[in-house]
Amino acid sequence: MTGTPVDLSHHLSQEARLRKPNSMKEIWRLARRKPNMISLANGDPHSSLYPIKSLTFDVASVTEKDPVATWRAGSSSAPSHSITSSRDEAPVLPVRTAFQYTTGAGLTETQQAVTELTRFYHNPPDHVATLSLGNGDGVTKCFRLLGSPGDHFLADEFTFSALANAAVPHGVKWVSVKIDEGGLIPEDLENVMENWSEERGPKPHVLYTVPCGQNPTGSTLTVERRKKIYELARRFDLLIIEDDPYYFLQYTSKPSTPEAQPAPAGSDSQSALSPRGLAPSFLSLDTDGRVLRVDSFSKVFAPGMRLGFITSSPFFHAHLVALTDSSTQHPHAFGQLFLTELLGPAGWTLAGFDAWVRSLRDEYQRRRDFFLGLFEKEVAPLGLVDASVPDAGMFVWTKINVERHPRFRREAGKTKGATTNCRQLMEELFETCLDNGLVVMPAWVFALPADPKYDENPIADRMNYFRLTFAGTEEAMEEGLKIFGQSLKEFYADQPKCIEN
Ligand SMILES: Cc1ncc(COP(=O)(O)O)c(C=O)c1O
Repeated sequence: MTGTPVDLSHHLSQEARLRKPNSMKEIWRLARRKPNMISLANGDPHSSLYPIKSLTFDVASVTEKDPVATWRAGSSSAPSHSITSSRDEAPVLPVRTAFQYTTGAGLTETQQAVTELTRFYHNPPDHVATLSLGNGDGVTKCFRLLGSPGDHFLADEFTFSALANAAVPHGVKWVSVKIDEGGLIPEDLENVMENWSEERGPKPHVLYTVPCGQNPTGSTLTVERRKKIYELARRFDLLIIEDDPYYFLQYTSKPSTPEAQPAPAGSDSQSALSPRGLAPSFLSLDTDGRVLRVDSFSKVFAPGMRLGFITSSPFFHAHLVALTDSSTQHPHAFGQLFLTELLGPAGWTLAGFDAWVRSLRDEYQRRRDFFLGLFEKEVAPLGLVDASVPDAGMFVWTKINVERHPRFRREAGKTKGATTNCRQLMEELFETCLDNGLVVMPAWVFALPADPKYDENPIADRMNYFRLTFAGTEEAMEEGLKIFGQSLKEFYADQPKCIEN
């Protein structure tokens, strides 16, 4: 962080304030004070007793022009790259070190590897990495770090509810901020903060947001909005939890203009992008230490990696480590060893990782364009659904023109709750899709669990969306969009259903 560090300790939750660091881990750290310390302190199983001689990872080669396409096309004969770590020797991390206990921050070598990665893409001043089990783990740890009963947190009105719901049992109350294709709307954030009524309880102090390829809407924050939101965070003393699993999947062109010059997601202009050609993260803008950025390898390697990391100020890092030291402890050695060697000198290196994620981005962009091409053919001609064109991520947010349904009703003069039968009709359409063999993700799954008492524009009237993904196979997209088109026709024809006995 540049300038004087800002004291943000008042944001800690009651739980975080009450937590004492794990004192056994403190002693464990002392055993590393100088080389060759004799330790009779810890019950650390000796490495000669680990039943692992060596681990070899055979991974895709990244020296080809388009490594992901080569890897997919070549199947089992595609060129690969082998990395071995044995018990006592390895390019970076031998088995005996990787499989020993370590601190909640993760293995030093792995921490260094992800710190380098963060420096390469975000170059934040004075931030520290804490390894996690992926973004689910990272984000929910941040919620526990910052949320006390009665606290208010802000988030996109449609959000990754699997995580937002996890804050509710801690007594956190959600407050929604409107979003559009450009992501969270700064003016709405400002409006919520400026017009906050003290009767409602303490003012929100945390913003949870997904800046790239937002789940579920697929929207990506423009550079301008990112800057505005960060300035609002400073003005209203908000912390930002930046949940960014789709950061590397920022696309370089719109599908209808293949000749378009690369202009990645969220870019208002080329010059606004980071040196890597990606939209600047909140972390890269963070001068105060008010951003906790959460990264994952689920979308760039595999979800079963269960590995990610949180980048934060040293202050919040220390509290995250205390939480981890007294709960899950550091992530598994398999993932940390794999990642460290993959990014190390005998592996892909950082340049190879960059080549992989660029190629992966191109692969997902092809899939997106394939999906949207099919959508134009199978669904758009019905004139009943609009699809967003995502600039990043894996999701297309489709808006069903539910007002055109013959049984759509609006109750005039109603002041509380839903004023239309939108949700009910959408449930029927969802059922029709299921009956026809298609499962989609309905909007109600993602509605932020905010207090409806304060929702002037009831979200129940805006449930007319389905989230569809292009992450699957071409066959799934072809078949799925055909069924979707057919289901829409049936639903709008409004034929009474034949009840099976
Ligand atoms: C916005 C968002 N956050 C977090 C996650 C969970 O990621 P991980 O697999 O790293 O726990 C997902 C996964 O779909 C996601 O979309």
